Amino acid sequence: MSIPAIETILRSAKDALHQADTVKKLEDVRIQFLGRKSALTALLRSLKDYPAKEQKKIGQRANEVKNAIKELIALKVKELAVIAPLTPHIDLTIPAKKLSVGHLHPLTLVAESVERIFQSMNFSVVGGDEIETEYYNFDALNIPAHHPAREMWDTFWIKQSKSENSKNRLLLRTHTSPVQVRYMELHQPPFQIIVPGRAFRYEATDASHEINFYQVEGLMVGRDVSLANLKYIIREFLKKLVGRDIAIRFRPSYFPFTEPSIEVDIKMGNQWLEIMGAGMLHPNVFSYAHYPPNEWQGFAFGLGLDRVAMIKYGIPDIRLFYSGDTRFTRQFR
Ligand code: DAH
Repeated sequence: MSIPAIETILRSAKDALHQADTVKKLEDVRIQFLGRKSALTALLRSLKDYPAKEQKKIGQRANEVKNAIKELIALKVKELAVIAPLTPHIDLTIPAKKLSVGHLHPLTLVAESVERIFQSMNFSVVGGDEIETEYYNFDALNIPAHHPAREMWDTFWIKQSKSENSKNRLLLRTHTSPVQVRYMELHQPPFQIIVPGRAFRYEATDASHEINFYQVEGLMVGRDVSLANLKYIIREFLKKLVGRDIAIRFRPSYFPFTEPSIEVDIKMGNQWLEIMGAGMLHPNVFSYAHYPPNEWQGFAFGLGLDRVAMIKYGIPDIRLFYSGDTRFTRQFR
């Protein structure tokens, strides 16, 4: 090999180093120019075959070039070490971190499907307040003070500074029924509404009782609304909710604000499960709403939304809905 050939090696080593922008490429350059199989190594090994005069000249220059390349590589290593942290190595085979995206609570999902079904039957969705007065929660629903029926609803009373009369005494509503008279005071029949919302009861909790839970109130008022209409609407609603014709049962019951009063059960396996109270609006409730006597007829119902959700999803304990345990809620994504 001649001196110009050695210079060519140096030049191509410099070019290659210039291109090398990763540690891996740098190592390739080192192997190519300084490795055991490189031209330079071969040359240094075969020096003994050269005539003595050339041996010295070529040997000296070859060693200088070898050291120069070594130094250039060392410099480049330092350069890459500075840049490396800015361009981290990306391993595309590592599984990505799961993004946890928010989703609706099972009770919200069921409430939405109940709303959709009633809207398809021309019912409007109306709201109400969770803090109510004693008047709308009880008196206007034909449940006067000291009436034994009040014991059906264990009540959270709100602490108030002075003793108020019953129009103004505040409580957490024990059912969504107070919206009935509130709505009738402001609207002329005919109408049909549902009222999804939260209710509260001051009672011990267990697998089927919570101090707060959800109901959907229903109210339909018109000239000749009948019990047959109520039964038809409830049957249609349950059919649409469950997606098939299911066995349902109407049982006589008692509520102060309806006459007659019924309870509705649905059959699950070989069990009957109660899911709502209902009935024809009591004339006294119409008078609390200041409707003229005997002009209107209506039905009302109160559906236990938690109950429906428990049946629909096979949930054994109502307390799971309010536990805040994401291992439970995330199953409903
Ligand atoms: N408000 C009743 C409760 O919470 C349920 C109910 C029964 C609502 C009959 C109604 C009804 O509208 O007509 O126990």
